[in-house]
Amino acid sequence: MRDPRRVGILISGRGSNMRALVERADNYEVVVVASNKPQAPGLEWAKERGVAAWSLESKGADKEEYDRTLSAVLEDHGVGTIALAGFMRILSPWFVEHWAGRIINIHPSLLPKYRGLDTHARAIEAGDKVGGCSVHVVTEELDAGLVLGHAEVPIKSSDTPATLEARVLASEHQLYPKVLNEFVLR
Ligand code: GRF
Repeated sequence: MRDPRRVGILISGRGSNMRALVERADNYEVVVVASNKPQAPGLEWAKERGVAAWSLESKGADKEEYDRTLSAVLEDHGVGTIALAGFMRILSPWFVEHWAGRIINIHPSLLPKYRGLDTHARAIEAGDKVGGCSVHVVTEELDAGLVLGHAEVPIKSSDTPATLEARVLASEHQLYPKVLNEFVLR
């Protein structure tokens, strides 16, 4: 039985949510940060903080083979919960099944609205007055698992996708650690 309080974070880029998760870890410990992009800026930050960092380029790799390698790394670190934080790669059915119920993700919309990409542009285009972010359990269907928490932000008539993204991102940094701190105790 793996300890759910041992958290592995998967990133592909800047890693601002990863930083928020490391900085506000009350009920869990971030034991490894892993990336499918060796140049991801978030990796350096993790290393500087003394968090183990691992990376392997996923481009061109066999999907399931890659995921089995990644899974073995997480298991080596005794990971019990995986938090996706800007991990721009769809996990294989094998991986999702292997870690079923133990992977969560943050998504920049109020799910079930706007699964997938370009969430802010789509919310503005639709004339929505409220946007936000959601933390959900990862299942095989993209952005469709059980929602564990939402944070709402207002959408202003002057908003562009960029200004809305910045406001939503700030709310992600509040919501994600809060939900993960609760999730690991379930
Ligand atoms: C965030 O907007 C997150 O909701 C989405 O990807 C972005 C990652 O940003 N899944 P960062 O790498 O955490 O800064």
